[in-house]
Amino acid sequence: MNILLTGGAGYIGSHTAVVLMQEGHEVIIFDNFSNSKRSVLNRLEKITGKLIVCIDGDIRNRSLVKQTLQYYKIDAVLHFAGLKAVGESSEDPLAYYDNNVAGTISLLMAMKSCSVKILIFSSSATVYGVPHYLPIDEKHPTDPESPYGKTKLQIEQILSDLAKSDSSWRIFALRYFNPVGAHESGLIGEDPNGTPNNLMPYISQVAYGILDKLKIYGNDYDTPDGTGVRDYIHVMDLAEGHLAALDYVGNHNEAFSVMNLGTGNGCSVLELVNLYEYEASKKIPYEISARRTGDIAACYANPEMAFLKMGWKSKKTLREMCFDSWRWASTSLQKHKD
Ligand code: NAD
Ligand code: UD1
Repeated sequence: MNILLTGGAGYIGSHTAVVLMQEGHEVIIFDNFSNSKRSVLNRLEKITGKLIVCIDGDIRNRSLVKQTLQYYKIDAVLHFAGLKAVGESSEDPLAYYDNNVAGTISLLMAMKSCSVKILIFSSSATVYGVPHYLPIDEKHPTDPESPYGKTKLQIEQILSDLAKSDSSWRIFALRYFNPVGAHESGLIGEDPNGTPNNLMPYISQVAYGILDKLKIYGNDYDTPDGTGVRDYIHVMDLAEGHLAALDYVGNHNEAFSVMNLGTGNGCSVLELVNLYEYEASKKIPYEISARRTGDIAACYANPEMAFLKMGWKSKKTLREMCFDSWRWASTSLQKHKD
């Protein structure tokens, strides 16, 4: 298949590009590089041994998206492009609604006009909001707190309406839990700008000596060790999930579905720190600090639907997630030190 990856130069898109290319698909990346670097393209070429086609563009540029869909005879779109920082989305909600929601509408209009009707959308477990029960299945009520989370839910609603209006669409919204880890080559991984907000990249920078110590946001939650529990999933497993989703939509007559992509296992902050220390052979100094506003005690997936429907389940262990994060961090973080 000829597959367009919006946001394909980013963290999850670049790992998915590797998996798709290794399966023999033609991958065309469409990215405005607002949160990624062009150097990832060379790295992808090194990993796959193939030339990477990349359009430098914004999904809000509908005519460019349309030209790309037509020129490359695109069969399916994997839509990763979006802004994703929760805190920033509260400071500048319009930027998030414009980029994520208006950007998706622009993409969908271009797809509709070219009769490209297969779409896999990067949604997030953040659409569930505060858990009413655990593990979270797809029937769990949705109630996102941040503008970022609201853009994800609004997009899902737009996709659902679109599928109702025309049943020939094949749309999958994948609700990712907490993607971590990196490709085994150590050539690509998560490379956040500035000080990381998320746990794993923060631990990596402490391990590498760029940051002094980790602040653990609260140890008085109602969890086994008092620290927050999440469902960390290896980014390569997540990438495989996209392949499974593509196979599924090609072989079933469902115009719109949503699905969790997680492992089903909860891991606490302290557990992750201990595993990372072991895998990286580094001490991670930490201190307990106040809870972070908006955080929840525990969140993990019921991933059964993905297995029942697509035969997909995560394979990689937390130790592999830590080891691969460290391998990537220790090769990529030198520039921050210089
Ligand atoms: P990322 O920031 O690394 O990748 C997103 C890519 O999209 C970047 O390369 C960026 O330059 C590009 N982009 C952003 N706006 C664009 C636009 N208007 N036009 C063209 N390109 C644009 O993020 P990621 O971690 O790879 O996440 C991919 C998707 O998955 C996002 O939609 C994100 O919201 C969603 N998601 C991520 C996580 C996570 O923890 N990483 C969790 C749940 C959902
Ligand atoms: C955050 C986002 C969520 C998004 C997800 C994946 C918030 C409130 N939520 O979720 O919307 O979908 O990232 O991108 O930002 N922690 C520390 N110290 C740190 C960083 C994190 O103790 O420096 C703790 C947190 O309190 C939490 C756990 O580590 O218990 C995981 O945090 P993080 O990686 O930010 O992910 P989420 O909070 O699940």
